[in-house]
Amino acid sequence: MEKLAMLYEGKAKQMFKTARKEELIVHFKDDATAFNGEKKGQIVDKGIINNKITNFFLKMLNQAGIPTHLIKELAARETLVKAVEIIPLEVVVRNTAAGSLAKRLGLPEGTKLERTVIEFYYKNDELGDPLINQSHIELLELATPAEIATLTKLASKINQILSTFLAARQVDLIDFKLEFGKTSAGEIILADEITPDTCRFWDIESREKLDKDRFRRDLGGVEAAYREMYKRITGQKWQ
Ligand code: TMP
Ligand code: ASP
Repeated sequence: MEKLAMLYEGKAKQMFKTARKEELIVHFKDDATAFNGEKKGQIVDKGIINNKITNFFLKMLNQAGIPTHLIKELAARETLVKAVEIIPLEVVVRNTAAGSLAKRLGLPEGTKLERTVIEFYYKNDELGDPLINQSHIELLELATPAEIATLTKLASKINQILSTFLAARQVDLIDFKLEFGKTSAGEIILADEITPDTCRFWDIESREKLDKDRFRRDLGGVEAAYREMYKRITGQKWQ
């Protein structure tokens, strides 16, 4: 399958058209940004690692009955996916307080949450992706109540599958972000990526951060953390 015109360029990925209207190619870049693009940098080989990890997780979720946009991996940085209309919501699932939740609720980072927290953020760069609730989503007609229920159910199932898988690999899934899309038939399927860019991964024992917080917070060892997650998730040596 050949890449045709670029359809869209985001902070970490590019999307290309193909000869088939219903199929797109996603290209994973090494570019990294944080704080709505204010902080910019590169993480060496991130695109290769994130492509591989996303393929691994989406395949696993597909096999567990979660519909996803994955068709097949094409190259080190490229994957063929189903074209969908992205629902402009970031669905964040949290098992442990960290990042903006720790700040907003005044909970020390690392506090285990007694119940899973699911949040919706409005994907809108100009507004800085604000946290929104169900009434706001309905007001802006971003999703119907039935679709919100579907997103919540899928996010919760995905959390169970990923948390269990990662715990067996000595990784605590602290929180993560998902994006969903709608097919032309109206089905809601998981889209985008699941990577150290979009998840917080902490070593179960040492609580060491193995994700993009190392870049966001200038903690050093960014590339090593991405490689470590590649190894733990795929079970393969890094190059
Ligand atoms: P937060 O604590 O900053 O709200 O982030 C929650 C989770 O969502 C964390 O795993 C990182 C991920 N995330 C993204 O994937 N993209 C974003 O733009 C932000 C802000 C967070
Ligand atoms: N990539 C996002 C941005 O630049 C934020 C993040 O992942 O922290 O807005």
